[in-house]
Amino acid sequence: MPTDIRTLLEAHSGRQHEIFGRTVNPQLVRVLRTIGFDRNYVRAEGPLLYDADGNDYLDLLSGYGVFALGRNHPRILKALHEALDLSYPNMVQMDAPLAAGLLAERILTYMPEGVDTVFFTNSGTEANEGAIKFARKATGRTRIIYWDHAFHGLTTGSLSMNGGAEFRKGFGDLLPGATKIPMGDLDALESELKKGDVAAFFFEPVQGKGVFVADPSFYPAAQTLCRKHGALLICDEVQTGFGRTGKMFAHEHWGLAPDIVTMAKALSGGFVPVGAICYRRWIYDKVFTDMEHCVVHSNTFGRNILAMAAGLASLDIIEEERLVENAALMGQLIMDGVREMSGRFEMLSEVRGLGLMIGIEFGEPRSLTLKAGWKLVHAMNQSLFGQMITVPLMKEHRILTQVAGHHLDVVKLLPPLVIDESHVGRFLNAFESVMKECHKFPGSAWKVTKDLAAAAARSGRTAKEEAAT
Ligand SMILES: Cc1ncc(COP(=O)(O)O)c(C=O)c1O
Repeated sequence: MPTDIRTLLEAHSGRQHEIFGRTVNPQLVRVLRTIGFDRNYVRAEGPLLYDADGNDYLDLLSGYGVFALGRNHPRILKALHEALDLSYPNMVQMDAPLAAGLLAERILTYMPEGVDTVFFTNSGTEANEGAIKFARKATGRTRIIYWDHAFHGLTTGSLSMNGGAEFRKGFGDLLPGATKIPMGDLDALESELKKGDVAAFFFEPVQGKGVFVADPSFYPAAQTLCRKHGALLICDEVQTGFGRTGKMFAHEHWGLAPDIVTMAKALSGGFVPVGAICYRRWIYDKVFTDMEHCVVHSNTFGRNILAMAAGLASLDIIEEERLVENAALMGQLIMDGVREMSGRFEMLSEVRGLGLMIGIEFGEPRSLTLKAGWKLVHAMNQSLFGQMITVPLMKEHRILTQVAGHHLDVVKLLPPLVIDESHVGRFLNAFESVMKECHKFPGSAWKVTKDLAAAAARSGRTAKEEAAT
């Protein structure tokens, strides 16, 4: 009997938290239940999710950025259906797949001059792992310099370049020679590069954790320093690539010409895992030295027809729907709208970002009662305050957002690039009403944090008890 996915999903609708919590990740399900994100989504279109009761949710998270083109874009769906119906000779392996060549050609049109070679991967972290290997082999050096707060993925090599202790703790020794420097610190970069053993400086043009952007003068100066000291400049555009920041690739903001650019997320419109490393031919020549080494770095699923077809369709859509321009425009509207509120809400300290990668930072208030609340929340848990914003945005306004990282009072917006003024208006109205509630102490908004802290403490106990049994 053929598997009827629709009937299967309908038959079990509403059971996802129970089943997933039992079989995949109980801690995640505890979090979802605690913060009220345990919804029963049954459909998705563009920037909206729908639950079983037909309520719509504005998705300002876009699956961590993969749904830049909105969800279930009909043109990508069509390309995928066509690709499936082709009886295409997929992944022959001892073959040079045409679709991969065509997508590589398209991607390279967006790269700086001299970046002329592509390696396809299945994820962002795999692209970064490959970039580390390429940099080491090409330069004959091993050290990698990365930034505080950096996030390049969670496999072991990428984790070695992770700027947050909470992700690394307990996983043992990571790559030797990975060295952290403060973000945007040119002197620190230079003093490491001068040692002459650095293979590459690896950076996100806009950091995903906390949405930090360095001073504009840093980027070209860092490039000059890397060139001077023979280290590669590697730009991780896994999150910033394909229009997110209001340029097709974020390194264009500063006129950079990186040696390697890694990308993933939005490339397939969210449908199929895909990523890519774009790099210079001399690097290729150092890695793939001769016929015997033609697959010295390789994978099985990269270059598969579904990823390539979705990639080709996504690039057409980004251009034809002018999504890069829309990201710049809508991002500015959101940031202007939030900035306009800052005079009225003393805990609203900064809004920053580029295009539709936006961080809203909160800071300690001046007035005494609010200050007491602020201190109380931070004493309970340093990562809690942001939930005071994301929880009511979801609960009262059905808007999906996220806290930008551990120990940060920053809420992050990563909307699909297809949002319009009506979605911006919906967010700004909701955000203003949440701000009003937060600025009343004591009040319901503050109670949220108390409940969350208690639930977090309980979950730690539950996990320990479960581990002990
Ligand atoms: C800048 C950056 N690099 C790498 C990654 C890892 O990508 P993936 O989750 O596809 O492995 C992410 C994911 O969020 C990212 O934001």
